[in-house]
Amino acid sequence: MDKIVYKTFELKTVLLGESGVGKTSIALRFSTDVFKKYNESTIGASYLTKNLYIDNNIYKFFIWDTAGQEKYHSLAPMYYRGASLALIVYDITNKNTFLTVQKWVNELKKNGPLDIMIAIIGNKVDLSDKRQVPTEHARLYAQKIDALFLETSAKDNINIHELFKNAADKVPIRTDIDLNDNVIKIYNIDNKKNKNYICC
Ligand code: GTP
Ligand code: MG
Repeated sequence: MDKIVYKTFELKTVLLGESGVGKTSIALRFSTDVFKKYNESTIGASYLTKNLYIDNNIYKFFIWDTAGQEKYHSLAPMYYRGASLALIVYDITNKNTFLTVQKWVNELKKNGPLDIMIAIIGNKVDLSDKRQVPTEHARLYAQKIDALFLETSAKDNINIHELFKNAADKVPIRTDIDLNDNVIKIYNIDNKKNKNYICC
């Protein structure tokens, strides 16, 4: 039987955004398909991993879920340093949280990795009767800064998988292919790490 050669991509991912917007809920929904109604506010940051299999590619998401409370803001550079992907989350029912998105975008443009891909995420779309941030307003802003945009619900599992899949499709990755021994070498554009993975 022919060997299947999987290409492996490592994506350091950071979740940013104001406290209570649902960063931890999105990470938990994606990694374990769980939703907790009463989540404790994150302290410092937490870390999760999840693999996505798309065609013959494995996308390994290394996810840093940061704490949104202002007192932890100064820790953020530790988590976005070297990241390939930043998911900046707001709550569609709270317009102040959208202002915080813009602060994070400005900080990343100033101090973040050059090639970082940004996704703007409007969470809690299950509460659309309480909406304060119009979809088009957020979409236009995302277009202007060349970011992905999606509205999600961690609670109802809307667009969570799509979010990571779209990001995996779009994140800038450089590949060098070495066909000796059926090994494909992959470099993440940020950390230039070698990854070989063969399965049978
Ligand atoms: P910090 O850790 O303090 O930065 O907050 P966070 O952004 O991680 O928010 P968290 O995931 O802890 O969610 C805050 C609250 O919002 C919790 O009570 C969640 O149950 C709720 N929540 C999260 N996502 C959704 C959603 O999609 N819909 C609804 N209705 N509630 C949500
Ligand atoms: Mg949290």
